Amino acid sequence: MSDRKDLTFCSGYFSDPAASRALAGLLQDVFGIDVTIMNRLGGPDPTGIPFSWFDADGACIANISAFSLPLVIDGVSVRAAGLQSGAVRPGHRGMGLYRDVMEAALAHCDAEGFAAVALLTDTPALYGRYGFEPRAQHRFAGSAPGGGTASPVRRLDLGSAADIALLRRLLDGRQPVSDRFAPARQTEMFLFNTALMPDVRLDLIGEEAVIAWRMAEDGAFELLDIAGARIPRLADILASVQAGATRVFVHFAPDRLEWEGDALADAGDMVLMLRMAKALQPQGPFALSPMAEF
Ligand SMILES: CC(C)(COP(=O)(O)OP(=O)(O)OC[C@H]1O[C@@H](n2cnc3c(N)ncnc32)[C@H](O)[C@@H]1OP(=O)(O)O)[C@@H](O)C(=O)NCCC(=O)NCCS
Repeated sequence: MSDRKDLTFCSGYFSDPAASRALAGLLQDVFGIDVTIMNRLGGPDPTGIPFSWFDADGACIANISAFSLPLVIDGVSVRAAGLQSGAVRPGHRGMGLYRDVMEAALAHCDAEGFAAVALLTDTPALYGRYGFEPRAQHRFAGSAPGGGTASPVRRLDLGSAADIALLRRLLDGRQPVSDRFAPARQTEMFLFNTALMPDVRLDLIGEEAVIAWRMAEDGAFELLDIAGARIPRLADILASVQAGATRVFVHFAPDRLEWEGDALADAGDMVLMLRMAKALQPQGPFALSPMAEF
């Protein structure tokens, strides 16, 4: 680690409330995102480890956080980590502080034996030097399948502690939504993303699966994710929620839905980057569900 006058490097301090508040302050100031809303959703990801520089007043100046992101890729369980919350305060940029925290986080991932590291960025040029490669993500588009079997549906409400507890239980015991590419566990970001996406509806279908969905402006049904011990068929989902759509977009590889759509490359600003052996990389088109974005 380079010598940084008046700055102190710290990692893994989530049990220190003042340091955690300082990190939240950095993310509020740089991204305008309030990560403390996670506290009312059951708390931050317990696997998260921040790597940060602090100044003498206790302000967090630079950070990247690593967390465990177990994946299923082409049917194989892959021990993976995610990197998120990468930021440096404007007055301290260009001094190599980001390089410091990235190198520390990647050394941690390598020492822990993670076979893959993933991140999402609008600046892919920052990460090639660390061995990350961009991967195209896709949406899957097609006609709404008919003939499904309807189950009872109940809309969940993140304002309800009982619904948050139910959702956490289903997320903790979930099946991956795709065998091609999906997190095996991603509870905290699912809840956080739901809180940030007011147009997303969470419907409990039967007793074992919650679907995250919304209607597109053109009237298409958009399926964002499924949390549960069972992955329902797309036809059964549509019969249950009765959205009345004729067209569907699925935001993850739909191999478990008994439905096929056309894979359309996503043109969004955020690029998924993976650092992993070629042999483990996903072969077909896929996407990380928007509810799992980090
Ligand atoms: C991106 C950001 C974290 C860089 O912080 P920084 O402290 O200036 O970065 P460093 O000084 O450690 O630079 C590390 C390297 O990245 C390069 N770099 C910095 N910003 C870059 C950019 N926007 N595009 C490409 N490379 C960049 C630097 O040239 C340096 O290269 P070197 O190691 O060959 O000298 C900072 O500008 C920031 O917080 N931006 C706003 C939030 C953001 O974009 N976060 C990352 C998104 S995932």
